[in-house]
Order: sequence, then structure tokens, then C-alpha cells
Amino acid sequence: MAHIHLRPDWHIAERDATTENAYRSRRRFIRQLGLGGIAATTLGMGSVSGAAGDPDGPLDTIPDNAPRTGLPATRNADYVVPERPLTSRIAASSYNNYYEFISQGDLKTVWPLTGDYNPFPHTIDVRGLVQEKKTFDVDALIALLGIEERLCRFRCVEAWSMTIPWIGFPLAKLIAECAPLSRATHVRFYSVDRPKEMPGIRNARWFDFPYYEALRMDEATSELAFVATGMYGEPLPKQNGSPLRLVLPWKYGYKGAKAISRIEFVDKQPPTFWQDLFPNEYGFLSNVNPNLPHPRWSQAQERHILEEERLERIPTQLFNGYADIVGHLYPDEPTEFQRGVVR
Ligand code: MTE
Repeated sequence: MAHIHLRPDWHIAERDATTENAYRSRRRFIRQLGLGGIAATTLGMGSVSGAAGDPDGPLDTIPDNAPRTGLPATRNADYVVPERPLTSRIAASSYNNYYEFISQGDLKTVWPLTGDYNPFPHTIDVRGLVQEKKTFDVDALIALLGIEERLCRFRCVEAWSMTIPWIGFPLAKLIAECAPLSRATHVRFYSVDRPKEMPGIRNARWFDFPYYEALRMDEATSELAFVATGMYGEPLPKQNGSPLRLVLPWKYGYKGAKAISRIEFVDKQPPTFWQDLFPNEYGFLSNVNPNLPHPRWSQAQERHILEEERLERIPTQLFNGYADIVGHLYPDEPTEFQRGVVR
């Protein structure tokens, strides 16, 4: 698998961050031409059918039957990002990474490909080292655990970042409900695997779905680890991980598995999706760290996406600015520049 070259995104092309209106016009244009999949492929959007259920814009992908219990959620004042503005809602839902939907072409334009995906109803299976196997219904979980809003920094390993108002609950609360055995050292997360609804899975040549990620138990129970069920005051759009996804603001974005359908407690460090694909480039910990360059690019700075084509270049902070909360978990995290280290 080492021969696969995934393009690092040093800049956001115009096509990757246009307004909702522009997207609507582009989709309308394709339909008017009656070209469907051909035009879509030419535009690098993959195969879209133009069927009635297809979304008209990046916010048209919020499922009608998503639970709205607890909305509007109260903002938790402990989690704000005073030094920078929020990313626009359109940008956060237009520029995405989601390989279950798209694995070639214009990788970031995910939302038009989510038309066949029906996230609800949704359950999460809890397995492995637990007192008893459980299955949680997402609606019931939201009602049980309650929801809050947190403003968080979000840093992708590709050196772009966003600032997002997430809605959801602490992962620690969910883990307490799972009742893991004390000998569990790690927790695994598996994403939804539905080839019929997810074209990226159908077309995958290199990826072995479902997407899988994992954390140490002390990481998973950190107060900063969050399960998002919504963003920008609304339930999650499909391309952002509906029905629920992990948000780990001190780690690179790929640690935050979307559309989680299974949680498993284990007693040794499990493999993870990107580490299995590229062990020389992606580690298990994957903490945001400007001192550790990716083998193919620097991590010292990031392009913070404000809206559409508006970006600002800012320095990357150790643990993405959350060292006071999670720094003690990583006594060996390099605090000086090092090359050739993958953690
Ligand atoms: N989860 C699943 N199931 N599949 C994916 O392809 N991509 C990851 C992560 N979670 C991914 C995933 C990566 S690489 C990033 S940067 C973030 O989701 C992107 O989240 P966003 O699209 O909401 O910005």
C-alpha cells in the first residue's frame, strides 16, 4: 500500500470552497444539461444521479428525522476559542474528508454524494471487555446524556484548520454507560459500512472499510474528548458524520471517526485505519504537534478556513492549544523540533 500517493492539500482550490448558492447553481446547471453522471465526473464530483433525493446544497443533508432533543444546546463556557473567529457553516459542510463517499476525483466535495445515505434510525453496538454487551439507540442516548455546545479548534493533518461550534456530549459519559471492565486499556470505534448507500465504499480500491479508529482509555475519558451529534445549532449534516462522530480537538482530524456504529473495548493497542495504510506517515497517537513534521510537509503552520476562499495562515499550537487539558497524558510528546518521528 505504500505506493499510494494521497495529494497533500496545500491550498484550497476555488472549487473546494464556494458558496451554497454557487453549489446550487452548479447542481442546477448539471441537471438542466441532463448530463447527470457524465457532467459530474467531468467536474470531479464522482457519479451523481440527479435523483429527487439528491441534496441541493451542503445544508440540505441534515436528515429530517435526526433527533432535535435538547436543541438549542447551552454553550459550555469552558470551551471557547477566543483568538480566532468561527469558520462559516457553509465552509465546514462543503470542504470535507469522508472516504466512504468519495475516494477519487474532487475529494473534498462530499455532500452531493450523500443522497442515498439514510443515517437514521441508528444504533451503536458495544462489545469486547464490558460487563455486558449493549446496543444504544442514538435518540435515547441523546435524551439520556443531554447535549451541550463547545467551540473547538479542528486541525486536519493536511495543514488546514477550522473553528467549529459542535453539539453533543462528553465521550466519558458514553463510556461510563458502556461499563467497560477495568482491564480494558483501549477503545475502538468503527464507522458505518453501507456500500449501497456510500459510493466511496463501492468504488474503494485501496481502503478496507469500515473506517476504524482507537484511543487509550485515559484519552477517551479526558474531558476534551467529545461525541458530536450536531454543529452550528443543528443536527450533523451527513457529510460531517451524521448521526454522531468523535471530536478530539487535540488530535489530527482523522482520529475523529464519523458515523460510529460499534464501540469495542480491548486490552492492547489496536490498529487504526490510516496507520495500517501508511505506517511511516501516520501514528497511533497523532497529537497535533508543530514540532513533528509530516514526512511530506511541515506542521508548523496551518491554513485556517474562515469562509469560502477566505483563509488565514496561523502558527500551529502544541496539542492544538489544549496542552493545559491533555498535556499531562503525554510526557514523551516532543516539545522541540524533530524530524522523522511518527507518533
Ligand atoms: N471518518 C470516517 N468514517 N471516514 C473518513 O474518511 N475522515 C477523517 C475524519 N473522520 C474520515 C472520518 C478525516 S481525514 C478528517 S480530517 C475528518 O474526519 C474530517 O471531518 P470533516 O469532514 O467534518 O471536516
